[in-house]
Amino acid sequence: MGALSCSTAFCSSSVADIRRESRRSRTVGGRFMASSLPVEQVNPSPSQSSTGDSFIRLHLRKLAPYQPILPFEVLSTRLGRKPEDIVKLDANENPYGPPPEVFEALGALKFPYVYPDPESRCLRAALAEDSGLESDYILVGCGADELIDLIMRCVLDPGDKIVDCPPTFTMYEFDAAVNGAMVIKVPRMADFSLDIPQIVEVVEKERPKCIFLTSPNNPDGSIISDEELLQILNLPILVVLDEAYIEFSGLQSKMKWVKRHENLIVLRTFSKRAGLAGLRVGYGAFPISIIQYLWRAKQPYNVSVAAEVSACAALQNPEYLENVKNSLVQERERLFSLLKGVPYLSPYPSCSNFILCKVTSGKDPKKLKEDLAKMGVMIRHYDKKELKGYVRISVGKPEHTNVLMKCLNLLK
Ligand SMILES: Cc1ncc(COP(=O)(O)O)c(C=O)c1O
Repeated sequence: MGALSCSTAFCSSSVADIRRESRRSRTVGGRFMASSLPVEQVNPSPSQSSTGDSFIRLHLRKLAPYQPILPFEVLSTRLGRKPEDIVKLDANENPYGPPPEVFEALGALKFPYVYPDPESRCLRAALAEDSGLESDYILVGCGADELIDLIMRCVLDPGDKIVDCPPTFTMYEFDAAVNGAMVIKVPRMADFSLDIPQIVEVVEKERPKCIFLTSPNNPDGSIISDEELLQILNLPILVVLDEAYIEFSGLQSKMKWVKRHENLIVLRTFSKRAGLAGLRVGYGAFPISIIQYLWRAKQPYNVSVAAEVSACAALQNPEYLENVKNSLVQERERLFSLLKGVPYLSPYPSCSNFILCKVTSGKDPKKLKEDLAKMGVMIRHYDKKELKGYVRISVGKPEHTNVLMKCLNLLK
């Protein structure tokens, strides 16, 4: 908090500096000077007394500080438990990990000293087979996270608007801020469904450039119906549909829809379906008219050799992926009915690999999270406006559910 107010104070004096600089470069001897660049785009050179943050773009200086998650090893030291003794149900990871083919492929890497294929050809071919959509429509990224940022870099000019429907995945809002865009929030309804009339009104009035939709939604696990999606696709707005958790919903991905809808992008990931969160592989389906620009703007080597090899190997064992998904879906249902029996939790039905719970009976959600952490069980707690009083619990293996339930019962 201290750091934030300090940088804000510095920020206001810098605005004055910029204005002064700007006036100086426009007028010499009372005459207006032409410049090859609009003056507003020229960064003022920092004065000798400036500190390093004067080099940073203005809108980024106002960004809230990044809150990193604790690395697994650090968490393990802090909790005084071996990593394998921690029940990690706080980040929607897939506790089964990838199929054995991935470990074999990583161990057999022949050319780690050669740069990866900038077009990830092998993986895109495998994804085309997996999804039924030709590889021309598919682009791979360093996690879906990278693709969210890449889309924004290609689509948004500073000051452009996006629509966000909280509570949802917070990276949309974060990346919008990094890209200097404005976020129009259309909060979800009490049951976490989209407020379609409000979205329609906002699109008509505010002319935002794109909307980020998540189905199943993180953190509640609700899905968007085809009718709702079609209604939004009919609006003059680019729709980015994030399907990071689609496998757990039993629904078909909408990847193929990008052939019919010029304003649709669909994002997916290997983090959840294939247990590859640590290797960072995400992918997206794009209309041809859009994907060509993402190719131009992306970092050439955004997907590492290890990441591409791992994802290809994972796709070679669809039976493993299917079994793991089925185990998680089955465990989700067991976890849901067990959580319903906890007197201070009210769980929401979920189509994903996590369950959102309202914490009731006057119990403090933050303390609940901390008490569970002391017992080696990590869950996610929320203190943001729309989700104050909620916790989210990822679905683990049956033994993880058993430990969690034991701890929750001790905290009654
Ligand atoms: C809705 C949603 N989209 C995207 C991601 C990030 O996916 P990746 O690990 O591929 O960057 C997450 C991660 O939790 C998520 O919840």
